[in-house]
Amino acid sequence: MPADVVIGGQWGDEGKGKIVDLMASDYSAVARFSGGNNAGHTVINDLGEFKLHLIPSGILNRKIKCVIGNGCVVDPAVLIEEMENLINTGVKVTPENLIISNKAHIIMPEHIKLDNKQEKEREDLKIGTTGRGIGPAYMDKVARNGFRMEDISRWPEWSEKLSKFVGDTQKLLRSKLGKKENILLEGAQGALLDIDHGSYPFVTSSNSTIGGALTGTGLVPADIRNIIGIFKAYATRVGEGPFPSEIPKTESVADYILKKGHEFGTTTGRERRCGWFDLDSAYYSIMTNGFNKIAIMKLDVLDGIKEIKVLKNDDYITLPGWDQSTFGIDDYSKLPINAIKYIEFLEEELNVGISIISTGPERNQTIFKS
Ligand code: GDP
Ligand code: IMO
Ligand code: MG
Repeated sequence: MPADVVIGGQWGDEGKGKIVDLMASDYSAVARFSGGNNAGHTVINDLGEFKLHLIPSGILNRKIKCVIGNGCVVDPAVLIEEMENLINTGVKVTPENLIISNKAHIIMPEHIKLDNKQEKEREDLKIGTTGRGIGPAYMDKVARNGFRMEDISRWPEWSEKLSKFVGDTQKLLRSKLGKKENILLEGAQGALLDIDHGSYPFVTSSNSTIGGALTGTGLVPADIRNIIGIFKAYATRVGEGPFPSEIPKTESVADYILKKGHEFGTTTGRERRCGWFDLDSAYYSIMTNGFNKIAIMKLDVLDGIKEIKVLKNDDYITLPGWDQSTFGIDDYSKLPINAIKYIEFLEEELNVGISIISTGPERNQTIFKS
């Protein structure tokens, strides 16, 4: 005991990968519980820069057991490629530190074709999927037509490389908790992309919120200690769908955030839509997940913006920005006064403690706030 959960509080790409990599050393296992290689989690540490799509971000920490849970969908070809890329850069990936649930569903080549065909047919109502076959793979799962990782032996070219990684992940996690070891559950996507609670139909096809952390691993509510919501200090969305605090492209600050924040999709390279922090959506996300801790990421991207806006009750509140750089600051008291005021404003409004503030992509560019 216990398990802690990291969940994206917005529309994905909040910086979950950085936080999981940063926290991982306190845990004996890191488990993904939903989604597939639609995710793109960037980790920058002393080993280099990594873009992980399916393998948990804990993989860069040699001692950790990484788990791909039953709630995930696995594209075997992509997984093999990701494993080989990691191995080629010197990262250990063996059955000793990676286990894939026998119940995780397989993304078949037809699923990818169908995903792209469906998108084409949606014409004006496109979702803007990542085109990785995610929706159709979950369709087959729910229709009870799917293939699971336990069926991998039917495909010689995949089975040879993957079958030794397949096992009972629920039992493994349970046994770790029984030995009083800590587990970290790594969310993918974000609360507002959840199939049930997100902005349907502009959502992904799995439960990226707290319920998915349980069904997607086989853990139970009593196992969970902290539910950590990851939010950017502003907001982004990639793909179609409502985005209440979106900044119109005609305002130069939209481009400023896009460029300063390198807001291009990790998986598809698409430009992310940029907007202000949306309190209304954040309240909803807190309610849906029960976050008891929050991390505010990419504060440094707001450096140099004169007036920072925040959406509340469908209206904008304007707060003064700051000129000084916050990039890399690791001590709360060293932040510019207006940055502290911004954090305090968010904390008061959200009514959940902000325990982490991130000021850059690297591990040490982080403030731990009590
Ligand atoms: P994830 O999907 O939630 O793991 O997030 P992504 O990796 O898709 O996107 C977050 C991006 O922001 C990555 O390129 C990170 O390296 C970067 N990043 C994370 N935290 C910070 C931060 O505090 N400041 C800046 N400037 N970049 C950050
Ligand atoms: P991470 O884990 C941001 C979005 C897609 C699209 C919608 C449905 O890196 O935060 P899908 O391919 O899942 O059927 O696409 O969901 N989407 C993401 N957006 N970050 C992600 O993951 C995403 N995974 C899916 O852009 O709008
Ligand atoms: Mg991402």
